Amino acid sequence: MQISFSPSLPTGLEVLICPVLFDKKHPEISKYPKALQELIKSALKNKQLLQKAESSFDMQLYAPRLPKGIILVSLGDVNKLKKSTVRNAIAIGIKMARAKSKKEVALYYSEELNPYARVIGEVLLMANYLVARYKTGKSLEIEKKKIMAGMTLVTSSKAAIETELRKGMAVGTVVNITRSLINDPPNILSARALAEHARTISKDAGLKCIVIEKKELVKMKMGALLAVNRASDAEEDDARLVVIEHLPNKNEKPIALIGKGIIFDTGGYDLKPSKHMGDMQTDMTGAAVVMGVMSLLKKLGIKRNVIGVAAITANLVGPKAYKSSEIITSYSGKTIEITNTDAEGRVVLCDAISYAIKQYKVKQIIDLATLTGACCVALGDRYAGMMGTDKKGMSLMRKMGRSTDDLVWPLPIHPDFEEKMKSKIADIKNTEDGYYAGASKAAAFLKFFVGKTPWIHLDIAGTAYTHDPKKYESILGTGFGVRLVSAYLEALEQQA
Ligand code: BES
Ligand code: ZN
Ligand code: ZN
Repeated sequence: MQISFSPSLPTGLEVLICPVLFDKKHPEISKYPKALQELIKSALKNKQLLQKAESSFDMQLYAPRLPKGIILVSLGDVNKLKKSTVRNAIAIGIKMARAKSKKEVALYYSEELNPYARVIGEVLLMANYLVARYKTGKSLEIEKKKIMAGMTLVTSSKAAIETELRKGMAVGTVVNITRSLINDPPNILSARALAEHARTISKDAGLKCIVIEKKELVKMKMGALLAVNRASDAEEDDARLVVIEHLPNKNEKPIALIGKGIIFDTGGYDLKPSKHMGDMQTDMTGAAVVMGVMSLLKKLGIKRNVIGVAAITANLVGPKAYKSSEIITSYSGKTIEITNTDAEGRVVLCDAISYAIKQYKVKQIIDLATLTGACCVALGDRYAGMMGTDKKGMSLMRKMGRSTDDLVWPLPIHPDFEEKMKSKIADIKNTEDGYYAGASKAAAFLKFFVGKTPWIHLDIAGTAYTHDPKKYESILGTGFGVRLVSAYLEALEQQA
């Protein structure tokens, strides 16, 4: 999206999005252009409604020099202004403008919004996402018309806001790219295509990308990832381990971001019932988010060493598919008794974790995975489940969750859960008979491979995709995690 800045209201506008703040129930509009002030006042006379933050309405005008349409969105009480209100209100404005399919759109950017430039940059893109990318012909044209190609920001503070605004737009762009990856089905986004994507974004970002292909994985004895991959026939669906390096400092142990990259999860022989198999193209969200965050590091000025690791394969059925009862030797050398082929995420992740520890001696692990239905049951689509061993890291992550609205909520890993995951015949089993605490037991499995490395586990099964989008979302992939983890790394940077 192209943006331009204008200190005064341009003429010939089709739509002006106009956020309004209130002070003691009066609109705070003394700095707005005179003509607009009159309009807003008269419009508000009968609309007490707008005092409530995030309420909105739009007007059609027939006055010369004024925009043809004005969308008023309320930011509520000036003394209670916060990021989430700005994010939601601007998103509402953008979606209303989009529905009108208009080209010449402006946002009235009053001074009070200057501290929110980053948030506004992000939401300009996030609320302007095209989800219907696979329509064709006229239908596609109609969808595309609803995407804003550009926007004018009416502000006299260009210098104060531009840097942060553009940073936010870079983040928003990556959120949208991540959403498209999540939404792409496995016949379009194969394991190969996802690895190719990693190569492309790494090249664009000036980062080194290593794609370890199946032959090599066999030599390396990455038995867990390969077991899940066994039913995938086509070369393009061979397993891959993708590693992206951002290592600006010598002799500094990196932080590892690790992502689950299941391009489709049928459940394997422990086949999912059809109502649970729908949307399982999104099971590579962790990997997509890791790639997205890596692509942003330089733009966000992150100077610490960070690596991204994604374990990529589908989980299919077929004569060669792995079966429960199998004993698998993982890359770490530890053996896993497979008790449920649908608990494949933890199986591929353990090899990615062991690889990061062995090859990079990482100082911290943050993994993102659509890991358990149990996490959705516990926290719904509002919070990701957070577990791990890095207490300080988790408290910062929670704080950054509040700041980005990518919320996380802590769940426990009781030592009893770890005990329960032990196998009678191998080192560990991938599921335990009991029905309860599924998210924690999956984490207990991972903990076995993480060892002493400080670790934060984010179970994003509930937040990765949605059928009930928030103001700034569309259906399906949300991009949850891109802003959270970027903000976390930025916060670490500021602590340095
Ligand atoms: N990919 C699923 C988890 C999932 C469920 C993600 C719903 C998004 C929405 C994962 O691989 C899985 O199937 N987990 C099993 C584990 C069980 C067999 C212990 C689950 O949660 O049912
Ligand atoms: Zn599964
Ligand atoms: Zn899965």
